[in-house]
Amino acid sequence: MAKQPVRVLVTGAAGQIGYALVPMIARGVMLGPDQPVILHMLDIPPAAESLNGVKMELIDSAFPLLKGVIATTDVEEACKDVNIAVMVGGFPRKEGMERKDVMSKNVSIYKSQASALEKCAAKDVKVLVVANPANTNALILKEFAPSIPDKNITCLTRLDHNRALGQISERTGFQVSDVKNVIIWGNHSSTQYPDVNHAVVITPKGEKPVREVVNDDEWLNGPFITTVQQRGAAIIKARKLSSALSAASSACDHIRDWVLGTPKGTWVSMGVLSDGSYKVPKGVIYSFPVTCANGEWSIVQGLLIDGFSRTKLDATADELIEEKEMAYSCL
Ligand code: NAD
Ligand code: LMR
Repeated sequence: MAKQPVRVLVTGAAGQIGYALVPMIARGVMLGPDQPVILHMLDIPPAAESLNGVKMELIDSAFPLLKGVIATTDVEEACKDVNIAVMVGGFPRKEGMERKDVMSKNVSIYKSQASALEKCAAKDVKVLVVANPANTNALILKEFAPSIPDKNITCLTRLDHNRALGQISERTGFQVSDVKNVIIWGNHSSTQYPDVNHAVVITPKGEKPVREVVNDDEWLNGPFITTVQQRGAAIIKARKLSSALSAASSACDHIRDWVLGTPKGTWVSMGVLSDGSYKVPKGVIYSFPVTCANGEWSIVQGLLIDGFSRTKLDATADELIEEKEMAYSCL
């Protein structure tokens, strides 16, 4: 029997990530090739005409899985009964800005949209915040939507995770699909810690630690980390616009793994509410290694954290605590 359509909200749908993301969702990249979807697209009134143009293109694409499109500037109409909410709407960072610089504009959006989701979305809505500062926007959304379970509110660090896989693949010559279990710890910002201490490469001779295959700790502890941390800025410098297709693709990866589960023996990185695991302070949305099954994520436990990693985990946690204070001062 055909599946019932899933309602997927994309905010900021007339923007550049939105434009890359909605066709991926309509093609089944996010929820699978047999899952019909109804797209709910929200943007602000100045972008209404452009949003309508995106709707026209979706209709023109004749996607078999797309069972309906709502394009609106009314946040409550957009949030009505949605099962998945991908929150992209907001102001992007420009060259020379830190993600914190977009804080005051974006956190107030997340406060008001939290109320709309709380009032109108399906009770078990799964929320992914993409707009920056992603972790702190997600935290604000959580705090102002108290009836949505904490576990249902997450932020995107899968892009950073995929960037780390890409760097290891480029360096070693192994396919990106043969590299697994990197970790992004902390904030989706330049303090994030891309950690390869538990990562492996699948070689013809079996799984080998990334450190053994790369055989260059100086690179792994230096340029590898800074390249991943600074990749967003490098894309902005090159395109004069922030990353869009990679952000959209990673958002699909995040939701797909959350809903459909992570492959056996593999974890991914997701920004989730800290429960104190790995001595990360509670009460911040922090990127952890997670596995997913039955629509729920769980933090991977028991990984050894060495002294170098400890300092980095703490530094990015400190930044998130500072951002949380700053966000409240903006509201
Ligand atoms: P963009 O400016 O092209 O699009 C943003 C869209 O949001 C615009 O159409 C704008 O009109 C809309 N918008 C603004 N306020 C809104 C509101 N209150 N409600 C609904 N829509 C609203 O930007 P973009 O390049 O698509 O990036 C979107 C966000 O995603 C930015 O904050 C960017 O920094 C962030 N981002 C995050 C990641 C990540 O990995 N977490 C990666 C890339 C970009
Ligand atoms: C990214 O990582 O590409 C995005 O967060 C955009 C940015 O501001 O860096």
